Amino acid sequence: MTITTCIFDAYGTLFDVAAAARAAAAEPGREDFVQHWPHVARDWRYKQLQYTWLRAVAGTHTNFWNVTKNGLDWALENAGIDEDLELRERLLKLYWELPAYAEVPNMLAELKKQGMNTAILSNGSPEMLNAATNSAGIDSLLDAVLSVESVGIYKPAAPVYDLVLRQFGCQPDNVLFVSSNGWDAACATGFGFTTAWVNRAEEPIDRLPWVPQIVLTDLVRIPEKTAL
Ligand code: LAC
Repeated sequence: MTITTCIFDAYGTLFDVAAAARAAAAEPGREDFVQHWPHVARDWRYKQLQYTWLRAVAGTHTNFWNVTKNGLDWALENAGIDEDLELRERLLKLYWELPAYAEVPNMLAELKKQGMNTAILSNGSPEMLNAATNSAGIDSLLDAVLSVESVGIYKPAAPVYDLVLRQFGCQPDNVLFVSSNGWDAACATGFGFTTAWVNRAEEPIDRLPWVPQIVLTDLVRIPEKTAL
């Protein structure tokens, strides 16, 4: 088995999804949001993901921007602050310019130095992913940005992981798949990829039929893991 191709999940893995709510709470005039932002960020993310799975099971796909808005609306209502339409608009705008984690540019540059193929494989729509890679300044370090929109179903459906094999003409055991979402890393193991779970939040492992082969707390050591 030779790793030739490093594939990254986007949201939570390369880009900090909590940053939108955290940044909004730090803005002048948003003192009331300071107490709310951690649970709004958490509910927003959980609901956004739940809606992807529910829509996949129910066969009613809609793009990731729609489930992102739906998740935020649930989270704001749950916090009792859904009347604040200006805050809603601000949070949605910030989602288009999420920062990359600090180690991302050097880590990707190191993989390119090794001659690896590098790509994103994400639930995000192509427009959202282009905006995020642009604003983080990492587009030139990625060979491809693959979106579930080209297959019309969300992770962890197998046709999504198969996009990598179609893009790079490789076999599953040539791929190191990296995700901070435990369920994504586990299901990619089931697909046949070698996987690394970036467990930034030190969460318990997901109880699924597969486990990631590598567990890390950030992306710094990913380039060492390509020589397996
Ligand atoms: C993604 C979500 C799962 O980027 O974080 O696909």
